Amino acid sequence: MIKSLRGMNDILSEDYERYTYFIKTASDVASRYGFHFIETPLLEETALFKRSVGESSDIVGKEMYQFIDKGKNDVCLRPEGTAGVVRAFIQKKLDKAGGTHRFFYHGSMFRYERPQKGRLRQFHQFGVESFGVDSVYEDATMIMMASDILKELGIGYRLQLNSLGDNNCMPEYKNKLIKFVKEGEDSICEDCVRRLETNPIRVLDCKNERCQELYKDAPKLLNCLCESCEKDFTTLQKILNENGVAYEIDTNLVRGLDYYSKTAFEFVSDNIGSQSAIAGGGRYDRLVEFLDGRPTPAVGFAMGIERLMELIVMPESLKDGYYIGAIDEKAINLVLQLAQRKRKTDKVTVEYKAKNFKNHIKGANKVDAKYFCIVGSNEIVNGTIVVKNLENKTEQIIKQKEF
Ligand code: HAM
Repeated sequence: MIKSLRGMNDILSEDYERYTYFIKTASDVASRYGFHFIETPLLEETALFKRSVGESSDIVGKEMYQFIDKGKNDVCLRPEGTAGVVRAFIQKKLDKAGGTHRFFYHGSMFRYERPQKGRLRQFHQFGVESFGVDSVYEDATMIMMASDILKELGIGYRLQLNSLGDNNCMPEYKNKLIKFVKEGEDSICEDCVRRLETNPIRVLDCKNERCQELYKDAPKLLNCLCESCEKDFTTLQKILNENGVAYEIDTNLVRGLDYYSKTAFEFVSDNIGSQSAIAGGGRYDRLVEFLDGRPTPAVGFAMGIERLMELIVMPESLKDGYYIGAIDEKAINLVLQLAQRKRKTDKVTVEYKAKNFKNHIKGANKVDAKYFCIVGSNEIVNGTIVVKNLENKTEQIIKQKEF
């Protein structure tokens, strides 16, 4: 039997309901915040991710589904959504047009990671990206939008917050950190030795206990911010405080993608095991320029839908629509005719196999139909239909013409 690839799941039945409920809720919230839908291709030039997510990141270094296509192009399945949206933004010349542009998207992302609970090779993200707003109020708004989505879904969270500084203060901090880590280089793990060469601040994120013990005394990013980054970070906290959004500051939160500056944040859940990050994002003011666009400030986040699906509190399912069935073979054609008419305005589920009343009722309950309709030889002769309201249990016999 052929099975799906490791780390790649089907979404159907109850999962599908959760998935669509999530997409609808998140899209509604994003629309209320003035964001518009964007869809970008699943396959992009590999160079796009190398230049944006960064060659030193695990995502680009180890996890890409990369191949040469029949036209000898080096391509890969997108590991995340931001790079493609930025590419589309520049390709459509929206960077040159100026102004504010706000997008949301959802779909599959691919990372060749070691699969485990909450960690897949094909997973789904819901993401938002805002271009053109050089104000920390936009960062706060993004965080509040993510918080609103989670609240509407009944999901509790902890919000972790950091500032990664900018071009003014980050290089100086990096030098301080490198100097500190090099002093204890003999005891750090191989990954950290590599990180020192490629992207030193990622050492702060190392899961190795010995490394973490050493880095406890490392210089803190938040103590090295320049005046403007410091001011923005203070304002961000003030806005969140005033709007009742609780957060924890984590000066070691560096994110796994290289394009961030200033605000970085992650939403985590304590109820889904070790893969606890349910959303992450931040400001990326230099990425548009990196990809050859006109410098444009930007900020965004993405949520991991599979991780959220475990946490969503679904609303009580409400009965809706019609179920139409026949009690004898002769009436099957009538089932189709009535269904087609009703489908112009309502949701209709049909059963094309003649069954007794009890079995049809079971079928109607399974699809949560509100109205249960049944026809047989008598109804053909009389031009009637039996309609039972499964919510208040009343029953009517009405003319088919009036159905
Ligand atoms: P990210 O933190 O790499 O950020 O991914 C966002 C979310 O996707 C994570 O918090 C997690 O819930 C989910 N996720 C990541 N990898 C997996 C996996 N292997 N299996 C299941 N879920 C996963 C980004 O991708 C950035 N593009 C976010 C962003 C948008 N920053 C600015 N704009």
